[in-house]
This record gives sequence, structure tokens and C-alpha cells, in this order.
Amino acid sequence: MKKTIIANWKMQLGFRDSQMLIKELKQKIKKTNSEIIVCPDYLSLSSAALVFKGTHLNLGAQDCAIKASGALTGEVSPASLRELGVTYVIIGHWERRTVLGEDSELINTKIKSALTAKLIPILCIGENLAEREAGLAKKVLLNQIKNALKDVKIKTTTGLIIAYEPIWAIGTGESIIPFEADTIHSFIKAEAAKVMGKKVRVVYGGSVNSVNANEFLKQKNVDGLLVGGASLNAKEFSLIVNN
Ligand code: PGA
Repeated sequence: MKKTIIANWKMQLGFRDSQMLIKELKQKIKKTNSEIIVCPDYLSLSSAALVFKGTHLNLGAQDCAIKASGALTGEVSPASLRELGVTYVIIGHWERRTVLGEDSELINTKIKSALTAKLIPILCIGENLAEREAGLAKKVLLNQIKNALKDVKIKTTTGLIIAYEPIWAIGTGESIIPFEADTIHSFIKAEAAKVMGKKVRVVYGGSVNSVNANEFLKQKNVDGLLVGGASLNAKEFSLIVNN
């Protein structure tokens, strides 16, 4: 199966820099065997949709609302995202869980809302350093899987992606050993399949760059990568994609 490479720009770029990067990516990423998903901020989604049209660059949002429409000041509807040409949406990223206080119930509702709008959720899960050091990583991941995917139904195995992002590896320059990621991904796949009845793709995120990407992609259970910092530079990201 094709590997899936996701670029998560977070809120790192201003509007003009986002526009430049969108154009650069279109130029630099021509042929690739991977599926590429680019997730700019909300403001840049519509221009990215225009530029990426007809290319193999897919569009993802970094979040979505809990329902398609209604009185929800400041929120963005998954149905509108779909109308725009967005096909994926990141849900439950660590920064939203901790900095913005999103809990498991909210994340579960957002996943269902995304699926109703025919968006493919990219569910982020991961343990923090204290949990890892206490040997609790699997327990934490299992809890996150069970809570986020409660009563979630998908039609095919491509209907949802899980991103395993150990919190201690996000933006720190310290990634997990690829072989360890492989073992954890295998566990996540098995547990998610028990909850949903389908074995979904599991991608790795946390300090991925053009130097380590290939080692991760070689692992059997690593179906792709979620790239933050290294996706903000078109040259670096194209090296990861063309690995
Ligand atoms: P990073 O971020 O690649 O900068 O570690 C990954 C993420 O948070 O999705």
C-alpha cells in the first residue's frame, strides 16, 4: 500500500508565507509514490484548494467543528471544508488536547462529525514522557483509542487514519526508534481493529525529518508520517516525500 505523508503546518506561518509555500509545493512535488496530504491553517485552505486542483496534493484541515452547522461562534464546519475540496482532517492533536483543553468526549464527537461530512479523520494519539518512563504507554494509547473511537463506524480501512505521536517527540528533535514505532503501530492497529472492526492505517509523527524519514517508512507497520516542523520548508518536505 502507498505510504501517506501528512504536512501539519500548525499556526507556524503567516498568510503570505503560506501562499508561497503552497505554490512551491506544487512546483517541487511532482511525481511521488506516496499519498500526500497538506494541512495549512483555515485561512489558506481555499487558495490551496485552487492551486492543488488537478495535482496529487490532497488537502487536510487541522481541526473541525462538532457539527455541520449552527450557532458555534468561531468554529468551522466539516461540511464546508468538504465543499472546499478538503478530504482529511486532523483531530485530537496533542496541542489541542493540552493547550486548548480538548477531552476525549469532544474528540470522539469531532471524529463522528468529520465522518458524517465525508472527511477522513486523522486521529492523533500519544503518551507523554512520564507515562512512557512509567511503562504506561500502551495503557494510555489503549484508553485514547477506546475513547476516541467509541461507536465510530467506518466503511473501509481507508476511512480513518491514526497518527501515533509520542508527545515527548513532538517538536523536540528527539524521535522514537523506528523499530519501536513499528511495534507500537502493530499494537495500535490490533486495538483499533477490535474497537471498529477494521484495521486502519497508522502513521508516525514526532521530529520526522529528511534524514530519519526513510528508516520509519521502511517499517512494515508504519504506513506513513505526520510531519510538523520539517514540512514548513518545501525542499525538506520534498526530500521526505521522495524518500
Ligand atoms: P514535529 O511535529 O514534526 O515538528 O515534531 C509533529 C506534529 O506535531 O504533528
